[in-house]
Parts: sequence; C-alpha cells; structure tokens
Amino acid sequence: MTRVVRAQVLAATTALLVVALAAVFAALRNREPTRPPPPTAATAAVVVADASNEAGRRAFDRLNCGMCHSIGGRGNTDSPLDGIGARRDRAAIREWATGTGAARDRLPASIVRRKARYVDDPDLEPLVEYLSRLK
Ligand code: HEC
Repeated sequence: MTRVVRAQVLAATTALLVVALAAVFAALRNREPTRPPPPTAATAAVVVADASNEAGRRAFDRLNCGMCHSIGGRGNTDSPLDGIGARRDRAAIREWATGTGAARDRLPASIVRRKARYVDDPDLEPLVEYLSRLK
C-alpha cells in the first residue's frame, strides 16, 4: 500500500466512523421518552383518596390518638383500632372519636372531655375516612 492509498483508507474509515456515531447519537436522542400514561378519572380518584387517607393518618398522629389507641401495633395496644372500619360505620367512628352521641354515655367523663377537643378539628373528616377504611 502506498502512503497515498493508506491515507485515503484512513480518511474513508474516519468518515464512516463519524457518520456511524452521528447515526447512533440521533437514534438515542430521537428515542420516544417513556412517559407515564396520562391520568384518567379513575387514577385521579385514587390520588384524591390517598391524599385524604394521608391527611387522616397524619391527624391520628397529630391529635395523639396513639396515646390510647394503636394502629398496626403503633401506639397504645390496649385499645387497637385495627379493623375498626369493619366493626363500626362512619357515624359511629365519628361519635367514638369525639365522645359524642351514643359514645358519650359509654366513655368515662374524663375521656369525653378530652375527646371534645377533636370535634372542631379541620382534619376530623379525613381522620374518620382513614379509620373507616381500616377493615
Ligand atoms: C385518653 C385516651 C383516649 C384518647 C387520647 C383517644 N381515645 Fe378513642 N377511646 C378511648 C377509650 C377509653 C375508648 C373506649 C374503649 C375502647 O374502645 O377501647 C375509645 C374508643 C374509641 C373508638 C371506638 C373503638 C372501638 O373499638 O369501638 C374510636 C373509633 C376512637 N376511640 C377513636 C379515637 C381517635 C380517632 C382518637 C384521636 C383523635 C382517640 N380515639 C383518642 C380513649 C381515648
């Protein structure tokens, strides 16, 4: 091989390499990005439900319900609320949580007084919702 031919082969190989790299690059850049499917009404409903459950769970902690009750072993296991949603309906859960209605006569007066502070809590409904789903 003469020097000229060798130089030509080298130039051709380099050009091919550049084209090949450009093609690989273009292919990588043009690849369809993997996006999650757009939210449907169903997924939106699940998101809302999760959000209210989260607010309820946080309210349980913030209001110190765990001082006397436990959920999943967290809190005072003397009075677990696991499965409360299967034992009582939402109205009853609300009454027992706040010491009102029928629950008022069945709870010690000191507990009724303590629970009275929950009545006006802005997160009472998410809390009741959260508990009613513990089945
Ligand atoms: C100072 C103690 C105390 C605190 C704090 C307390 N509770 Fe109670 N709660 C009781 C007692 C006592 C009972 C009745 C006996 C039982 O069910 O264990 C009761 C009963 C309940 C019941 C009915 C349980 C069942 O099995 O039927 C629910 C629901 C409930 N409480 C929710 C709550 C929520 C929610 C909070 C926090 C916002 C809370 N409680 C805070 C003492 C407390």
